[in-house]
Amino acid sequence: MPYNNNKTLVRCIVLAIATCSMGTQWVSAQKKTSLKKVFAKDFGIGTAMNTAQIEERDAKANAVILQHFNMATPENIMKAEIIHPQWDVYNFDLADKMVAYGKKNKIKINGHTLIWHSQLPAFARNIRSVDSFRTFFTNHINTVAGRYKDQIFSWDVVNEALNEDGTMRRSVFLSRLGDNFVTEAFRLAAAAAPKTELYYNDYNNEQPAKRAGCIALIKKIQDAGVRIDGVGIQGHWHVGKVPFKDIEESIIQYAAMGLKVMFTELDIEVLPRSFQGADVNQRVASNPALNPYPNGLPDSVQQQLANDYEALFKLFLKHKDKITRVTFWGVNDGQSWLNDWPVRGRTNYPLLFDREFNPKPAYYKVIGTKNK
Ligand code: XIL
Repeated sequence: MPYNNNKTLVRCIVLAIATCSMGTQWVSAQKKTSLKKVFAKDFGIGTAMNTAQIEERDAKANAVILQHFNMATPENIMKAEIIHPQWDVYNFDLADKMVAYGKKNKIKINGHTLIWHSQLPAFARNIRSVDSFRTFFTNHINTVAGRYKDQIFSWDVVNEALNEDGTMRRSVFLSRLGDNFVTEAFRLAAAAAPKTELYYNDYNNEQPAKRAGCIALIKKIQDAGVRIDGVGIQGHWHVGKVPFKDIEESIIQYAAMGLKVMFTELDIEVLPRSFQGADVNQRVASNPALNPYPNGLPDSVQQQLANDYEALFKLFLKHKDKITRVTFWGVNDGQSWLNDWPVRGRTNYPLLFDREFNPKPAYYKVIGTKNK
């Protein structure tokens, strides 16, 4: 019996030491490096923040945000359905908190997003009269951009106005207001928030056809004498298929228009998917074959993910004179929207920090790009 007790005791001690040293490793890895410090001279490093994070209810997430990021985008709470749920009702509570959080922690806030066909409140979708729709459009931009004019660093003024072939998406904005709505949105935003940087944001706008449409759209804004400061490439890509050549070509072409270029919603997903892009309305039925790694990512995929992130950051560094910001769409894998889109309830691994907030191999490869 005493022998067994001793054995148990020894096991406990070994376990305690191992746990403790894992904890120390975690802390020291966390203490040692910081994305925002490592890339301080190159570009801003951002994250998307969800409601719990904005309300500082998630202590571990908060520590990672403060250590690694100097820019942040609200993942949902500045979208029209939340900030402007009814004709004359605005809900500024969480947006105010986000702005205060940024101020307190020296984190620049990117407002996301003023004009977008998705996550629109039902009342707006149902406005039939063109005059009333125009009033909604004008009031929304004036009120929201105006409220934060001295507090928000930048706005995604218009999100996702284009189809894959570069033509204008047949959204409620296009059908009510015609294809000048994008220029009009920038005109209103520039007047309401003269000191805020103004961007056009989209997914797949690094792809040649959509890029050509994006360039034409931006040219139209510029030719109208309306201010646009930059273009956001969302950057929702897939492991092993990151379109490096198209990304590089896009950085060069957008910058040649006098625009700042930024990667606004970066994640690299690892699960099977039958289409490219990030249309939030596109859904696929759940099926176990589509969720192959519920208990952990195989090493080979982990390495491929790390290599893709490394190559991407090498490219970003090569063009750091043109790139102002790289924002990840979430703090860690557990938060990622890709666990529920386009298939609900999957286990995805698209970011640099795992579900326990530990830096992944991709994190170290990204940091390592500065030492080469
Ligand atoms: C996503 C959010 O991450 C989800 O929480 C929400 O359910 C849907 O929208 N492109 C965008 C982002 O511009 O606003 C989307 O965010 C992801 C795709």
